[in-house]
Amino acid sequence: MIQALMRMLFGSIVAGACIGSVAAQDSKVADELAKYREALADGNPADLLEVKGEALWAEKRGPRNASLEQCDLGLGPGKLEGAYAQLPRYFADTRKVMDVESRLVYCMVTLQGFKQDEVTRQWFSKPGKESDIEALVTFIGAKSNGKPINVPAAHPEEQRMAKIGEYIFYRRSGPQDFSCAICHGQDGKRIRLQELGNLTTREGAGTAMKTWPSYRVSQGAVWTMQRRLIDCMRQARWPEPDYLADSIIALETFLQKTATGTVMETPGIKR
Ligand code: HEC
Repeated sequence: MIQALMRMLFGSIVAGACIGSVAAQDSKVADELAKYREALADGNPADLLEVKGEALWAEKRGPRNASLEQCDLGLGPGKLEGAYAQLPRYFADTRKVMDVESRLVYCMVTLQGFKQDEVTRQWFSKPGKESDIEALVTFIGAKSNGKPINVPAAHPEEQRMAKIGEYIFYRRSGPQDFSCAICHGQDGKRIRLQELGNLTTREGAGTAMKTWPSYRVSQGAVWTMQRRLIDCMRQARWPEPDYLADSIIALETFLQKTATGTVMETPGIKR
């Protein structure tokens, strides 16, 4: 169904692109993309993953045969409502700023007794191999729906991470001398049909951040924010950081701080 939709909509975009002025074309493409997203939003495949994540959360697993129900994502053990919208944040027990994924892995290790490399081996899905982390993050994310993103970065460690994230965002480096800001620092930029989003404004960062985790139609999978950002580092032709690296958590802190005030709507659905 989705493939047929893509053919139909992209067909009309290509046909539309052959006539009219550049500005008219641009607004037409934007309209078609909006229609495309609307059509996809009915029946997001990520909804199934959310259900799976809910079951995994409550299931007794691992060497300690424990569930994740006592996991503290920042609002207290087991308190999930709105927790995602307030991450990354500083945790006194680890003395680190953690995002949803690093905190979840911490809970799998400390509560369930898994080894870190064991639980992160499949941190994203591959054809035929599902990822527990993707399912759990989809479930946790949806528990913040309707809640505003709230990462004021008031704690000195959070402030420091937001600053580092900002620095990484604007710093040009790598073989192409790219920065995140080159692709995501202005309104109305696109690569082919992909809108890039201006992540330096509350509105732009909000439009992006409130919809993750997101189902990516082109990949046939839900992507978490870690995966999104690690892949954007690859697009910037930078060395790829490890999963859960501090550089990614710093970028997330900066982006969530910029997006603070926008209301969560996840799982999203993207190209
Ligand atoms: C070469 C251009 C390029 C660079 C450099 C780049 N990105 Fe991206 N970024 C993209 C593309 C393309 C997408 C996907 C847009 C789509 O699929 O609709 C994207 C998507 C994103 C999204 C999700 C946006 C949304 O609306 O859901 C975020 C967040 C993001 N990038 C952050 C970053 C950060 C942080 C950096 C720096 C490490 C970066 N990007 C560097 C091209 C780039």
